[in-house]
Amino acid sequence: MQKSEPKSLASTYTLSNGIEIPCVGFGTWQTPDGDVAYNSVLSALKCGYRHIDTATAYGNEESVGRAINDFLKTGEVKRSELFIATKLHNRDHGYEAAKAAIEKSLSALGLEYLDLYLIHWPNPLAFRANWAEANAGAWKAMEEAYRAGKIRAIGLSNFFERHIEKLLESAVVAPMVNQIKICPGIAQTELVKYCKAHAIAVEGYSPLGTGGTFRSEVLKDLSEKYGRPISQICVRWSMQQGAIPLPKSVNAERIAQNAQVFDFSLSEEDCKAIAEIDFAALGITAQRNPDEATF
Ligand code: A2P
Repeated sequence: MQKSEPKSLASTYTLSNGIEIPCVGFGTWQTPDGDVAYNSVLSALKCGYRHIDTATAYGNEESVGRAINDFLKTGEVKRSELFIATKLHNRDHGYEAAKAAIEKSLSALGLEYLDLYLIHWPNPLAFRANWAEANAGAWKAMEEAYRAGKIRAIGLSNFFERHIEKLLESAVVAPMVNQIKICPGIAQTELVKYCKAHAIAVEGYSPLGTGGTFRSEVLKDLSEKYGRPISQICVRWSMQQGAIPLPKSVNAERIAQNAQVFDFSLSEEDCKAIAEIDFAALGITAQRNPDEATF
C-alpha cells in the first residue's frame, strides 16, 4: 500500500494490483437494513466518503446499494470515484456457492461491478473440517470474477497469518486486502507487519471499539490535549497505524465528525499510549479467534 499522506476522504492508497482505495471507508456493520442503512450511507456519501464497506452477513446490501445508486443519480460523482466493498457469507464457502454469492451481492447492491470482495471469515463453523479447501474453492470463484472484471480487487477478512499462508498455497492471484479489527488497545502489530510484508493492505474495522472507546480516560485526556473528539483521535490513530479505518455511525453529524481527521496528527508517544489501552476494561472484545468462533 502506497504511503503518501492522505489529505481528504477522497485520497487513496494503491493496492498491490494498482487499484486505488480511498484511505477511510464508511462501516455498516450493525447498521439495520432499510431506512437507517439507506440514510446513513447517503449521509456518508454526501459528506465526502467515497469508500463504503458492507457484507452479505450485515443483511443491508439492498439498502446500501439503493443509497449508492441514488447518490450516483445526482451526478455529483461518477461510479469510478466510488469504492464499494462487500463480503462472502460464511454459508457460501466453496467454489459453486461463492460463484453464486458474488452474483447475488452484485444484484442486491444493484451494481455492475464491485471494487472489493472479501472472504468474511476464514474458518466458519459449517466448514471447520475442511476450511482450507472451502477457502481455496471460494478464492477460485473470486479470481474468476476478478478476471472477468466483476470485482476490481479481492481479499480477506479476519484472517490470521496461518489462514493466509494456507490460502497462498493454492492462490493464483494474491490477496490485496485483509480487513481485521483495529482499535485502541487492539493494534494487531504482528499481523499488520505480516500483511505489509506480503503487500496486503490492512483495513481496520471497529475503529471506535464499537462505542467502547468513548469510556476511556486515556482517550478523554488526549481528546482535550488535541482539542478533538475521541472519535477523531481513534480514526486518526488507526490511519497512523497504517490501516484504512472503517468508522460506523447511523447519525449524520457523527458521520461527518468522524471524517475530520486530515488536519492534525498524533505524536508517536500518544500513538503508543493508545495502542496500550486496556480495551477489555472498556468492554471492547478482541478480534475472535477464527478457529473457535461459534458461527
Ligand atoms: P451511532 O451509530 O449511533 O452513531 P465502530 O465504528 O467502532 O464500530 O463504532 C460504532 C459505534 O460508535 C456505534 O455505536 C456508533 O453509534 C458510535 N459512534 C460513532 N461515531 C460516534 C461519535 N462521533 N460519537 C459518539 N459515538 C459514535
